[in-house]
Amino acid sequence: MSNVILKNVRKTYDNTKTVINDVNLEIKDKEFVVLVGASGCGKSTLLRMIAGLEDISGGEIFIGDKKVNNVAPKDRDIAFVFQSYALYPHMTVRENIAFGLKMRKVPKAEIDKKVAEAAEILNLGEYLDRRPKQLSGGQRQRVALGRAIVRNPKVFLMDEPLSNLDAKLRVQMRSEIKKLHEKLQTTFIYVTHDQTEALTMGDRIVVLNNGDIQQAGTPEQIYNDPQNTFVAGFIGSPQMNFINGKFLGLDENITYGIRPEKMLKPNGDIKLTVDVDITEMLGSEKIAYFNIGDKRCSAKLDADFCIGKTLDLSLSKSDMYEFDAKSGIRRG
Ligand SMILES: Nc1ncnc2c1ncn2[C@@H]1O[C@H](COP(=O)(O)OP(=O)(O)OP(=O)(O)O)[C@@H](O)[C@H]1O
Ligand SMILES: [Mg+2]
Repeated sequence: MSNVILKNVRKTYDNTKTVINDVNLEIKDKEFVVLVGASGCGKSTLLRMIAGLEDISGGEIFIGDKKVNNVAPKDRDIAFVFQSYALYPHMTVRENIAFGLKMRKVPKAEIDKKVAEAAEILNLGEYLDRRPKQLSGGQRQRVALGRAIVRNPKVFLMDEPLSNLDAKLRVQMRSEIKKLHEKLQTTFIYVTHDQTEALTMGDRIVVLNNGDIQQAGTPEQIYNDPQNTFVAGFIGSPQMNFINGKFLGLDENITYGIRPEKMLKPNGDIKLTVDVDITEMLGSEKIAYFNIGDKRCSAKLDADFCIGKTLDLSLSKSDMYEFDAKSGIRRG
């Protein structure tokens, strides 16, 4: 079993600065969980606490039903893949992948077998004798994954492993890591600030803000059923529109949320005309930006939609989320 359980986990730096408040989370065996949130919200801190690279100030962490609070990182049966791949420049790919095993005095024949298996899984066979500087960014990232794979860990921890890659390679590596997860059948905990990465990769997404879990759920639950304005605004691009009720002739104690792709519904219940100030052509679609009351809003339109100076919106009440205007908590 390689489930991971966090019970009332807290982290305070210098006895004053609390960066993880009281996190409770159960990650199932073989699950792919993505921790997502803005810069500084505590993602790396939480992952590093699971790895044992950071002390925990309170609470308990279990890996495979064993409490690990006082277990050294090397004895936790985890492998960590960082944003900077931290390969040894003077070693070949083969030596980089084998390094951890060699340090553990694993017999040479076994090391060779494991390196060959990892190279096969990651398509690195033809690069084994090269040094890191002779590889592309994506290939280097695969070597870093290879180093983790050969250790047969119970849990893979990955901290923004794709953020140094260009956009195209990032998309490609996203699906390679998903495939890797299916092949290895191991628990993955993956940190990113990129909501697209979170939506496309996670079996389950955990949205963090200021050291608190805002919501945990499948990508569909997080996108379609956000529990507060933070989650609703963080996941989705362009972000959900938030409109104070009074600008829609509705209850002004409610903030209404509606996705940009739902702004031009045929036969909508609420019609309003807005002044468009910016439009963006994205190839397959077009985005128009405007204000409703004091809030910046957008509409996602077909690429061939002709946008004038004004846009006639037509909103359907059934597409609208209701949030308490003060607390931001979902009401309906
Ligand atoms: N050693 C430290 N001492 C004091 N504060 C720290 C220390 N390490 C991190 N922090 C603070 O803890 C908070 C969370 O940091 P963390 O690195 O976990 O954020 P993150 O979500 O991973 O951000 P990013 O997306 O930028 O990597 C930040 O406010 C950071 O400044
Ligand atoms: Mg980080």
